[in-house]
Amino acid sequence: MKIKRKVALITGITGQDGSLMAEYLLKKGYIVHGIKRRTSTLNATERLDRIYQDKFTKNKKLYLHYGDVTDALSCLKIISETKPDEIYHFAAQSHVAISFEMPVYTTTVDSLGALNILEIIRNFKGKKIKFYNAATSEMYGTLNGKSLDEKSNFKPQSPYASSKLLSYWLTRNYRDAYKVFSCNGILFNHEGENRGETFVTRKITRFVAKYNKYKSGILYLGNLSAKRDWGYAPDYMEAIWKILQYKKPEDFVIATNTSYSVKDFLIEAFNNIGVKLIFKGSGINQVAINKKNKKIVVKSIKYYYRPNDVENLKGNYTKARKLLKWKPKTNFKKLVKIMVQNDIKNI
Ligand code: NAP
Ligand code: GDD
Repeated sequence: MKIKRKVALITGITGQDGSLMAEYLLKKGYIVHGIKRRTSTLNATERLDRIYQDKFTKNKKLYLHYGDVTDALSCLKIISETKPDEIYHFAAQSHVAISFEMPVYTTTVDSLGALNILEIIRNFKGKKIKFYNAATSEMYGTLNGKSLDEKSNFKPQSPYASSKLLSYWLTRNYRDAYKVFSCNGILFNHEGENRGETFVTRKITRFVAKYNKYKSGILYLGNLSAKRDWGYAPDYMEAIWKILQYKKPEDFVIATNTSYSVKDFLIEAFNNIGVKLIFKGSGINQVAINKKNKKIVVKSIKYYYRPNDVENLKGNYTKARKLLKWKPKTNFKKLVKIMVQNDIKNI
């Protein structure tokens, strides 16, 4: 008897979450299709190396299609051909600092990308396609008081956050107006071995791995006092999948309900290589010194400060715990260790 496999389409499959989700769904027996942009280099698909299947693979389960979420026609063609049961929409210009440099581009990709796909789903004949939108804790702005949950107010502080907020509301609008099974995952920061190299955690763990080997160099960062709710990305894929399997479409906060500063992350990362740090100064004049040799290893500089930064984020995932039976498995200490060890191994 032939098993009917579920079909998933992932936008942003070459990114951290897209590649992890592809791996997760393949393990669950899905046929996975992914949208990737044309690039001039081959290494854009590096994160998919572990699961890549070429066209000669027997019983192929993973397919990549050229497309772009700002190009509705390419999305329509791919969705019509693949007829997915579920779409995981991760594609985005996901860097908050860069969204201040490229606000129009960021809004085009992060808002219209979701809208293009929702419109295709709404008009799609013959199949109800479920839609997951990668919303973000950045939509809340700085935490003032208790942990943030699905009922907390939004006050976005960057073009990235504002454009994601539009995608969040569109996802809700299509659910309410057209009965599309469309859900928002409001995910707090999640990191890991596949994290982009310009996000602060990976920037730190890559530097620490190099410092461990060469015993020299200075890491230049921006705001060290900002606090984030940092989880381990592979833990979050299960939550995302469960959101689309829930009996009705709803929005969920996915987080750890803990919050650590960039400085805490630095201390913990250097701890992993046996280096103790002493901090001096504050704000853009802050430095961290290696306690043993008294040399500066970290400098906070204006260049990496944002025009407006979210100072503190912490998420309350009670709804996901109760309805999806989900909880994070990896704590902060373990997360930092995994990332540092992975970068040491890679060097
Ligand atoms: P990421 O590593 O930056 O990946 C973004 C993906 O989107 C990449 O595959 C990228 O392709 C693709 N992409 C960008 N513009 C595109 C376009 N116009 N058309 C098609 N694909 C495009 O981001 P991530 O960390 O995996 O995050 C996944 C999603 O979750 C994003 O929407 C992000 O905003 C959101 N989010 C992330 C976090 C987090 O902590 N990671 C938390 C909350 C929400 P290239 O490889 O070609 O650049
Ligand atoms: N990237 C970066 N580089 N951030 C720095 C640096 C630096 O050199 N120095 C300090 N930071 C501070 C930032 O100002 C921010 O307060 C914090 O470190 C985290 O920055 P990022 O790692 O860039 O992540 P983010 O929180 O801005 O955004 C990530 O998480 C969001 C969810 O809350 C991204 O993955 C977004 O796509 C995601 O929505």
